[in-house]
Amino acid sequence: MDALVLLVGDHNRVRGLFARFKKAKEAEDIAEMTRLADTVIAELTVHTTIEEEIFYPATKPLSEDATENVAEGMEEHNVAKALMAELQDLEPGSETWIAKMTVLIESVEHHADEEEEELFPEVRSKTDAATRASLAEQLEARKAELGAPTVADKIDLTKEQLSKLASEQEIPGRSSMSAEELAAAVAPQ
Ligand SMILES: [Fe+2]
Ligand SMILES: [Fe+2]
Repeated sequence: MDALVLLVGDHNRVRGLFARFKKAKEAEDIAEMTRLADTVIAELTVHTTIEEEIFYPATKPLSEDATENVAEGMEEHNVAKALMAELQDLEPGSETWIAKMTVLIESVEHHADEEEEELFPEVRSKTDAATRASLAEQLEARKAELGAPTVADKIDLTKEQLSKLASEQEIPGRSSMSAEELAAAVAPQ
């Protein structure tokens, strides 16, 4: 596993949750919105933690661009964390809660796109595969400690099973993903 595949997988899993949240919002299904919001917050908490503890410190020194991207990424994480903390004090389904979830989604979509367009290509060009594999192992180990599913939990699934989960979970780009990319993106059933 490559650390960048693992992190992009996390992004795509959250993008799937966002797509489902938007549908639940259209349908005014507050129970489903609440369930999805809880999952989004749990996912983002693990993802920001592993990036901040492992991925950002390892990649920040790679270049001036990486340093700048990581600093900006940290600030975007802080914005997301503040929004998530504010959401905990609001009534799920209320107008303010829905507005804040919408802002959280927009801000995380922007952040994930920016990582994938700027920081990750920079990291790919400045590291070798062995370094990224070792980083992936550290990210996986920390996820396991935090009680989150790891890619190892899904890697034995067949491509067909992975595709089915990806479809149910509305993972974007799933039709062109390899089995490894799908395993990184889906949540285990
Ligand atoms: Fe991030
Ligand atoms: Fe990320």
